[in-house]
Amino acid sequence: TTVTWVKTIEAAAVTRDGVARAQAGGQRLALYAVDGVYYATSDVCTHGQAFLSDGYLDGHLIECPLHQGLFDVRTGAAVGAPCTVALRSFPVKLEDGFLHVQVA
Ligand code: FES
Repeated sequence: TTVTWVKTIEAAAVTRDGVARAQAGGQRLALYAVDGVYYATSDVCTHGQAFLSDGYLDGHLIECPLHQGLFDVRTGAAVGAPCTVALRSFPVKLEDGFLHVQVA
């Protein structure tokens, strides 16, 4: 299998607000920074048409802006109603100040 790391946005952009959006390999991503560690999930909520990158990050939990469902950014797991289906999550690495995401 081929491991593909895709360069996305500057890490500084994520660190500033805790959450930011990016695109990689045709995938909309939400990128998170929690205590200096970076995480990536798909950006689209599994409950409806909302973007987690517009949501509110509290610790490791991202709250959906539409119905306040919760996901754990470390795993994508749905941890708060009304969300029951996990987000996809992706490996992230920091290189030369940019976040690279393994989307495939
Ligand atoms: Fe995200 Fe409903 S669309 S909780």
